[in-house]
Amino acid sequence: MDPIISVKDVSKNYASGFRALKNVDLDIRRGEIFALLGPNGAGKTTLISTICGIVNPSEGRVLVDGHDIVGDYRAARSIVGLVPQELTTDAFETVWATVSFSRGLFGKSPNPHYIEKVLRDLSLWDRKDSRIMTLSGGMKRRVLIAKALSHEPRVLFLDEPTAGVDVELRRDMWALVRRLKAEGATIILTTHYIDEAEEMAERIGVISKGEIILVEEKAELMRKLGKKQLTLHLQTPLDAIPAGLGTYPLELANHGADLIYTYDAQRERTGIVHLLADLTAAGIGFKDLQTTQSSLEDIFVTLVHEKPAIESASADGDAR
Ligand SMILES: Nc1ncnc2c1ncn2[C@@H]1O[C@H](COP(=O)(O)OP(=O)(O)OP(=O)(O)O)[C@@H](O)[C@H]1O
Ligand SMILES: [Mg+2]
Repeated sequence: MDPIISVKDVSKNYASGFRALKNVDLDIRRGEIFALLGPNGAGKTTLISTICGIVNPSEGRVLVDGHDIVGDYRAARSIVGLVPQELTTDAFETVWATVSFSRGLFGKSPNPHYIEKVLRDLSLWDRKDSRIMTLSGGMKRRVLIAKALSHEPRVLFLDEPTAGVDVELRRDMWALVRRLKAEGATIILTTHYIDEAEEMAERIGVISKGEIILVEEKAELMRKLGKKQLTLHLQTPLDAIPAGLGTYPLELANHGADLIYTYDAQRERTGIVHLLADLTAAGIGFKDLQTTQSSLEDIFVTLVHEKPAIESASADGDAR
């Protein structure tokens, strides 16, 4: 099937001369939940704004369901809804008016039943006649989501939707995202809460310094880059790892009471059987054991820190 969004060789040079996107290629599949991850300033908002037609690309092309975001702006724009990172609100308007007006901007005929459903879904119904300036920050964020959904978009972009919102709103938001997906929508989100991406997304893209450095199925990413650790809770704490076990990647933790073995979960032979045999031979007994797998957060931190670490190492001559 054709991707619903196709970003082809897109670069963005801001007027300041800053190159915020560098030759970005990215396809978004119909109906998926895609998480775009990257450190502050990586270019996430620039990329999303470009796809939504708010920022013009300096080079390259973006197609939204086959419609060119520049040449066929109206058609492309009506397919997408954007919940922006920054709170921008029409302070004096009521919730109802601002959300209804948003729908009108996309040339859709009024549909009070639909707007009511959106407001109810976002627990905004009893505030529909309140002026936006009288709402709390979390409620304003709900209004932004309602506005983004007002014209029934098939693709929803959420740029840091849960930054600074409370646990309840977060939970509501993810329930809403799941519901929209079940109804056939495609969702693209950015978040700094990697546990959220790990829970919600089917595919993950990582952007760093304006370049997409990785796009992968989440499960595959975790399988490929995830490390597993086996922790043995020792019967007697050790001061040091015995010399005979020096070939294994072992660490002591918890004041020598725990022995941690890190291995590659993908490999057929994990080395655990040999390790346990060698431990027994060395007279090291354990009371209990447990395995843990690295989280998406561990993987992400490794990915985005790899490049700067190499650069700074060469810059200051540190041969680490
Ligand atoms: N209008 C602009 N003019 C010049 N530079 C800009 C402009 N908007 C963004 N930038 C720069 O482009 C880079 C990417 O910014 P962007 O907002 O896309 O990052 P981000 O990945 O969304 O970061 P964050 O996680 O902080 O939201 C940054 O270095 C930023 O300073
Ligand atoms: Mg941003």
